[in-house]
Amino acid sequence: MKMKLKKLMLVVSTLAVSLLLVACGSSGDKKEGGSETKTIGISMPSKALERWEKDGNFMKDQFEKKDYKTDVQYAQDSVPTQVSQIENMITKNVDVLVIAPIDGEALSDVVAKAKKQDIPVLAYDRLIMHAEGVDYYATFDNFKVGVLQGQFIVDKLNLEKEAGPFNIELFGGAPDDNNAKFFFDGAMSILQPYIDDKKLVVKSGQTDFNKIAIKNWDGATAQARMDNLLSSAYTKDQVDAVLAPNDAIAVGVVSSLKGVGYGKEDRKMPIITGQDAEAASVKSIIAEEQTMTVFKNTQKLAEAAVKMVDEMVAGEKVEVNDKDTYDNGKKVVPTYLLEPVVADKDNYKEILIDSGYLKESEVKK
Ligand code: GAL
Repeated sequence: MKMKLKKLMLVVSTLAVSLLLVACGSSGDKKEGGSETKTIGISMPSKALERWEKDGNFMKDQFEKKDYKTDVQYAQDSVPTQVSQIENMITKNVDVLVIAPIDGEALSDVVAKAKKQDIPVLAYDRLIMHAEGVDYYATFDNFKVGVLQGQFIVDKLNLEKEAGPFNIELFGGAPDDNNAKFFFDGAMSILQPYIDDKKLVVKSGQTDFNKIAIKNWDGATAQARMDNLLSSAYTKDQVDAVLAPNDAIAVGVVSSLKGVGYGKEDRKMPIITGQDAEAASVKSIIAEEQTMTVFKNTQKLAEAAVKMVDEMVAGEKVEVNDKDTYDNGKKVVPTYLLEPVVADKDNYKEILIDSGYLKESEVKK
């Protein structure tokens, strides 16, 4: 009788544990010692830019070092591909989703599905808009990125002392990327007073974000727009500065300018900003074509994301440092912000090479 009771209790408790596991909806495998391996679904926008590939690799490495499994997917800048990749991850019942959206406005439905299945979501670098299910956000201070670009232009043209006027043209990032507006607003917070004072002149007259935004952050589209600006507004005048929000766009702008003879003794390159410290742009900075880039150490962003996920999984308090800025239309998403920094010809060695972010060989001509 005693034996039977014991057996029954064992069956009941095993059943209870299995039920608990099903209820938790965990995809985890049992590890030795009883703890579970959690799987993190990582959805990145594309491999077209070096930075996203780095982000994906850094996260994969760091999650795996902490005994997580990862499922890293890149969506080649196609929204339907990204949606179906995330849907697949939900079907596989990953434990947490880390998502850098292509179109911030296009993931509300899929995030709602994740929420229904109790899968926490961390928005990575770019915010996911109109979605209740976004739990946290890890990014760089996007407004500050623009401020650094604007301030760099002001300092290099010495606008505090020089009367000018200097000619400037403005570019914006992808209109469906929530970051792009922050970059632009940050830059304009610095540049607008000089435009109002007529020390800076936008000869094309194009200052509206929707007019200057570059779909998909595409370099070739930026090059075509710069070609148009040069042939319509700069047949007689020089352009002295170009606000380019990232390196891909800066590369397009540089090609266009070189095409009409900028970069020679009698026609010097304008001040051209950028962002991401992509190897091609750092080469261009060394060659004095592009002038600066805003460096966002994606290794550090990956570290922050891994730490936040770790805290989420453990049910601990997730450390954030901004609870006000990032309203996605449904909620203000608690955010961990990192600091961007300027890299130019004078400091790139120290900031980019000595830190191990890029190898000297990658930025040699
Ligand atoms: C932004 C990101 C930038 C840049 C751009 C193009 O959202 O913050 O670092 O890479 O997308 O991919």
